[in-house]
Amino acid sequence: MRITDTSDTWWKNAVVYCLDVETFMDWNDDGVGDFAGLAQRLDHLQELGVTCLWLMPFYPTAEKDDGYDITDFYGVDPRLGHHGDVVEAIRTARDRGMRVIVDLVVNHTSDRHPWFRAARSSKDSPYRDYYVWRSDPPPDTSAEVVFPDQEDSIWELDERTCEYYLHRFYKHQPDLNVSNPAVRDEIAKVMGFWLELGLSGFRVDAVPFLLETAGIPQAEAARLPDPHAYLRDLRSFVGRRSGDGILLGEVNLPHEGQAEFFGGLAGDELTMQFDFIAMQKLYLSLARQDAAPLADALASRPPISPDCQWATFVRNHDELTLDKLSDDERDEVFTAFGPEESMQVYGRGLRRRLPPMVDGDPRRLRMIYSLLFSLPGTPVLFYGEEIGMGENLALDGRSAVRTPMQWTSARSGGFSRAAPSRLTAPVVEGPFSPEHVNVAVQRADPESMLAFMTRLVQRYRECPELGRAEFAVIDQPHRSVLAHRCTWGDGTLVAVHNLGPDACTVPLTLDGCDDEHRLVDLLQVGSTPLDRKGTASVALDGYGYRWLRVVGPASRRLV
Ligand code: BGC
Repeated sequence: MRITDTSDTWWKNAVVYCLDVETFMDWNDDGVGDFAGLAQRLDHLQELGVTCLWLMPFYPTAEKDDGYDITDFYGVDPRLGHHGDVVEAIRTARDRGMRVIVDLVVNHTSDRHPWFRAARSSKDSPYRDYYVWRSDPPPDTSAEVVFPDQEDSIWELDERTCEYYLHRFYKHQPDLNVSNPAVRDEIAKVMGFWLELGLSGFRVDAVPFLLETAGIPQAEAARLPDPHAYLRDLRSFVGRRSGDGILLGEVNLPHEGQAEFFGGLAGDELTMQFDFIAMQKLYLSLARQDAAPLADALASRPPISPDCQWATFVRNHDELTLDKLSDDERDEVFTAFGPEESMQVYGRGLRRRLPPMVDGDPRRLRMIYSLLFSLPGTPVLFYGEEIGMGENLALDGRSAVRTPMQWTSARSGGFSRAAPSRLTAPVVEGPFSPEHVNVAVQRADPESMLAFMTRLVQRYRECPELGRAEFAVIDQPHRSVLAHRCTWGDGTLVAVHNLGPDACTVPLTLDGCDDEHRLVDLLQVGSTPLDRKGTASVALDGYGYRWLRVVGPASRRLV
């Protein structure tokens, strides 16, 4: 292992944990989570083994899109704290070995942002060109809206100036015009400001929309600089301001489209991208109990530069989108994991968390997280996954999975001492309520989900192959099994996962190995010999999982 590589590219072996300060921990008893509460709970994240926090938007907001409608890019939502509290939380996180990245939402602003207020006050406003306008009535764009339950066009008429402005998301989120150099400067300044406070980069919201030039009049569009040159600029700007800074981009496109946003093999655009395709195919594989869709998705990843990385996840804060599956495939996943209409949203996604989807079955849950952490890439957790939190379907749309973190079995899950009616969001009810699912009880139980996740994270961090390796699927006869190997330097790890309920024995042949090697279990006690041809038989329970390190005579590994 080369020490210099692994510390410089810390993000390749990171364990990223996404949280919303507003729903994490309330320290001033007003019913809203805050930075002081987050700082108090950093020890929990350190014990779990998290190495990078991703903070969802905490800026002043019009509160119409859970903070993604920002009214001041430099501010802090006063309900959550002030800049001093942010700095304390960042500093404490770093002291506990965790870097912090934050959401950069610059595809759009809130319509209450002072730039937009000025822009819509007159066609002559200096801020007019901060946004994208058209004077002629737009064509039907109902197929292009992101939130079809709320919008039917990506253009909205501004009554005062009688022109239409572009909004890819809600009409209260006018899109910024990044072809305007003044806007580009503003964005760089915003990034520079937050980096100066000690951040290690950004989760960049809606990257393809940010870069798009659709809506900009043809004549002007022809003069626009290449949007990817802009992304390259942003990456080098972050590199100049913060040596270890990253851009983790939200790009929900087919794999070949994502290659472009890495900057191809040059690797000089986004540092990391979420692998939405592998996530969607993972659910298809789980629904079918057939590893092939996931294996195919991983094989279809384009080659990327060593300066780039995939981010893997099973849940994020939005709908669990299944938009890249065919209609039939999506129906299969709906049938398996969210058959009722109330569990679905926008006709393309689920509003459930994973544990209720598998009826809380600990075998399946653990197998799925073991699989997630063994996939090539950097795993990203959404708060509450470490304890197996569920959702609250009584809440609207995507809010179902944005309920308060469940710390104890006390009222409101120990999230807040305010009256439940004052909480920023109600807690989960039923079998996944804080009474049944909470951090405090699980901390004391060595068999709990939290204990399991903590062990898993620790093993993942001990296996740098997983974030850096060459990955290959190993042929074996069982449809429900994914067997893969990751090799990096002198280390090889083999992971075997059974997506189905029936126990089986998996014959594995490992090239380059012989009877001087053995497979040592990393998630349980035991080891399996290999024969002269490098073949072993690995037993798996129903929904079983094993991580096996290949150990040869010269190994210096701690196993
Ligand atoms: C975020 C969403 C948000 C949208 C508009 C996204 O892609 O993940 O939560 O609603 O951007 O800002």
